[in-house]
Amino acid sequence: MSHTQTKTHQLFNKAKQYIPYGVNSNFRYWGEEDTPIMARGAGAYVWDVDDNRFIDYRLGFGPIILGHAHPEVNRRVAAAIQDGVLFAATTPIEIELAERFTRMTGMDKVRLSNTGTEANMHALRIARAYTGREKFIKFEGNYHGNFDYVMFSGSPQRLNCSAHAATHIVCALPKACRPPSAPT
Ligand SMILES: Cc1ncc(COP(=O)(O)O)c(C=O)c1O
Repeated sequence: MSHTQTKTHQLFNKAKQYIPYGVNSNFRYWGEEDTPIMARGAGAYVWDVDDNRFIDYRLGFGPIILGHAHPEVNRRVAAAIQDGVLFAATTPIEIELAERFTRMTGMDKVRLSNTGTEANMHALRIARAYTGREKFIKFEGNYHGNFDYVMFSGSPQRLNCSAHAATHIVCALPKACRPPSAPT
């Protein structure tokens, strides 16, 4: 990146004091110089803490499909949190959401999860239970979440990882994240 990142680097150094590699998901680590720290978003754009503006092609990997800080979404979220945010129990609104998903997708039922990791863990478990088979196929060089079953060959830059479990975890990190001693 060629723009100024003074605050980004300061905050990233602070983050690394408290969070491994300064990120809470492996894919957020883009290297020592380029790992972004976002301050805000509006529509198709996000701004980092140095006020650099970017087009956001990821949109939270899906959930931000209407764009950042959409007024109607904000209004509904602000209204909903007045009644509390977490009960560790089913709520009417999630039943409504599940019903809407099934209507939109044609699926019989859905299980909602907070992360892609959880969703894939559920999917694997259901597939294994249903088929009675242990083995599954994972795409080479693709990331499918932060759990041991799929934490190997998670990066397209390095496809030939050895069979050692520790190596698998290292290989699942972005290339710049791996220690120089990591096996290839
Ligand atoms: C295909 C795929 N599966 C799983 C995940 C993991 O999602 P999460 O970071 O929400 O656990 C990702 C995240 O990038 C993904 O792209």
